[in-house]
Amino acid sequence: MIDFDPYGDAFLDDPHVVYARLREESPVHFVERFGATFLSRFDDVWAATQSRKLSVAGGITPSQLLLGAPANPKMPSQMDPPRHTAMRSVLSPHFRPGAVARLEGEIRALARARIEAALPTGRLDVAAELGAPISAHVACRVVGFPIERASALSQRVNAFFHRRAGQRGETEKAAEAAAALYAWVGDFVAGLRAEPARATGIAADLIACRVEGRALDDDDLVHAVVNLLIAASDSFPKALAGAVARLAEAPDQRRAVVADPGLVPGAFLESVRIDTPTQFQGRTVLEPIEFGGRTLRSGERVCFLFPAANRDPREFDAPDRFDIRRNPPRTLAFGNGIHLCLGRPLALLEARIALEELLARIPEYAPIPDEARFARTEYVRGWLRYPIEFERAMP
Ligand code: HEM
Repeated sequence: MIDFDPYGDAFLDDPHVVYARLREESPVHFVERFGATFLSRFDDVWAATQSRKLSVAGGITPSQLLLGAPANPKMPSQMDPPRHTAMRSVLSPHFRPGAVARLEGEIRALARARIEAALPTGRLDVAAELGAPISAHVACRVVGFPIERASALSQRVNAFFHRRAGQRGETEKAAEAAAALYAWVGDFVAGLRAEPARATGIAADLIACRVEGRALDDDDLVHAVVNLLIAASDSFPKALAGAVARLAEAPDQRRAVVADPGLVPGAFLESVRIDTPTQFQGRTVLEPIEFGGRTLRSGERVCFLFPAANRDPREFDAPDRFDIRRNPPRTLAFGNGIHLCLGRPLALLEARIALEELLARIPEYAPIPDEARFARTEYVRGWLRYPIEFERAMP
């Protein structure tokens, strides 16, 4: 019998050992103390993410589903159809491949500047000094939030996800960061209302649109903007550093990518498959639904263990092997179904550019493990700091 506790040390120290046991011994695993069921096999998670019998309206985060934190019905990621469909149609034009491709020059210039500044020093923190500035800058640009706040945004979003060993869920520091972020965005929205002609990006469309026949109110705007700023800036630095770390551990594959940058996208997708940052999101059951012979009743909570599914041997050969040429037809690194990550094309573009620029200038590097810092949490895991060292050079 597995005692699965996503806040427990055994899990936080090495989630994949726990995931492997869940997948094999208890793939539809009910945890009494949280009243929630955890799915760990690929096919179950894939089907669940497509089911209309499950709802996001009761919340999707670990704290909402397991600890009773209130849901956020004004965040697009916590809306069900038809409102979700209407909000996605306002937001999605900004994330189509053609729209994000227009950001390529700006992202490349930013990545190059960061890398060139590091060349004479012989070290670069690829999470905090490369991934975070790129994703925060792009988040601000796409949303229409002031670009000069990008660095403060990164700090606030990191604080928003702050955890303390032995404490379940958000800390006081996280709550303060959340309050500060909402206040900040509240001022931003008030400024846009005063001068709507100055709105750009998604903010301009949110102000002008009608959803289900009505304009959005200030609260709708604040929650949509906070949702986007957090989603766009949090996971990317962790995912980028994860790819750099995997390529450090697999020098042959790294050299192959250096020799053929066409392999970069596959390398990034493989690293988010094997080290999926989002440990789980979940739903509330609307109508009875069956998984693995067990029927979940309405009102029950069900959580999708994305990283466990992404290493399911029923879906992937030798799933614990990092293989940049794997190119699987499907993974769950960005979710699936109607809530599939909206920012996926943007994250893939940012990753491609950052890795191309990094490997072109710094093909050989080594991590500095003593200075690396890992977000050891039940929610979005990955490197907060991942410094690498390399031979100094002039840009
Ligand atoms: C490597 C980076 C990223 C990863 C690993 C990631 C992962 C995910 C996952 C797993 C979901 C599904 C949530 C669920 O099913 O409940 C999701 C949803 C979402 N992501 Fe991302 N994400 C990344 C980057 C981004 C970026 C750059 C944006 C830009 C705005 C973004 C915006 C969103 C939004 C808005 C949703 C909710 C979509 C909806 O509910 O319709 N993400 N992401």
